[in-house]
Amino acid sequence: MNRRHFVQSALAAGVAAVSAAHEGLAQEPETERPTGGSQLFTPLTLRGVTLRNRIAMSPMCQYSSEDGFATDWHLTHHAARAVGGAGLLIAEATGVTPEGRITPNCLGVWKDEHVPALLRVTDFVTKYGAVPGIQLAHAGVKGSRHRPLHPKRNQYVPLDEGGWTPVGPSSNRYRSDGAAPHALTVPELRAITAAFAAAATRSVAAGFQVIELHFAHGYLGHSFLSPFMNERTDDYGGSFDNRVRFLMETVRATRAVLPEDIPLFVRLSCTDWAEGGWTIEDSVEVSKRMKAEGVDLVDCSTGGATQNARIPVGPDYQVPFAEQIREEAGIATGAVGRITEPAQAEAIIAEGRADLVLMGRQLLREPHWPLRAWVELGAETPAPIAPEYAWALSETRR
Ligand SMILES: Cc1cc2nc3c(=O)[nH]c(=O)nc-3n(C[C@H](O)[C@H](O)[C@H](O)COP(=O)(O)O)c2cc1C
Repeated sequence: MNRRHFVQSALAAGVAAVSAAHEGLAQEPETERPTGGSQLFTPLTLRGVTLRNRIAMSPMCQYSSEDGFATDWHLTHHAARAVGGAGLLIAEATGVTPEGRITPNCLGVWKDEHVPALLRVTDFVTKYGAVPGIQLAHAGVKGSRHRPLHPKRNQYVPLDEGGWTPVGPSSNRYRSDGAAPHALTVPELRAITAAFAAAATRSVAAGFQVIELHFAHGYLGHSFLSPFMNERTDDYGGSFDNRVRFLMETVRATRAVLPEDIPLFVRLSCTDWAEGGWTIEDSVEVSKRMKAEGVDLVDCSTGGATQNARIPVGPDYQVPFAEQIREEAGIATGAVGRITEPAQAEAIIAEGRADLVLMGRQLLREPHWPLRAWVELGAETPAPIAPEYAWALSETRR
């Protein structure tokens, strides 16, 4: 069949399907479907919030803001994945201060004026059955860079072009280019902890029902944990207890302002993947402490503190960290990284390796991935799809 014939017959089939749909969906033959319970499609309740399934959109920077404001792009990005059936959508790393952004185009929640545009996003997401979450972040030494869409992508933005001086635990550079970071004083650090708490309060006002603290990927939080980035000699550097102090203080300050029914997540880089760095054993220990302070789930990522890391990237490569923390710290975990197939995600949940599967790039490629997974796994819960589409799709009828 040549391309023209293919297009013509595809169009004809489409027209037939649409007219069948309008006649009551009676003509479509019922296809054999697998049956049996899918664990991926069981609800998950954390505090007062229930996710309709175990599929979460991982936080992903959209670099589409001016002065931190959410735009139509954020609405579109979240709306598509809510309609697509995910249980939880975690909005991208969102700056708790202007200097906490990675780029001048990152989303922010450092002032009350940001709330109405975020509410527009959370209203839509909630209406379509997904739970809106947000990742609160401070970029630390990795801040003040150009967004990936910029010709100078990832390079530091100079001060006279709208950049700012990056801050960190110490003044050592993460990369050789750019200004040396300013080493935060203790009062400055406490102000950032307070900014996380204030951002959490604003986020709840903006309709978010899950709050995640970003302590991964070499950004400010992780840079305190990792011996590669933290060269302080005061109460916030050196020993394990000192390196986790900023995390624990931020957890406590945030939990203190959150309503009791709102779950608190923390994303960790569970290992630095390099000798002498932060380890999975450190992650287990800090997860036990976080659990005692009211953290509900650890989102288990890795890496970002050193360019000498050897990372064995591949399907499920970070799942063992979620599994170990879940087992040894007794806290719910999320698995993330190269999870792309329904059977793969199902196995992670069914085998008790994690409580939640977070997906990044596959949900960019395929916003309706949860619906495909629901069909392939023969799940028996209500179809994860908007009613506006469901009536037309025979595969959503069980
Ligand atoms: C475009 C893009 C933006 C990202 N932004 C963030 C972010 O804001 N916060 C974060 O913790 N991780 C971020 N990540 C990492 C993802 O959340 C996820 O952990 C990673 O992509 C691995 O999952 P995947 O293989 O399913 O994509 C980003 C990844 C991508 C592709």
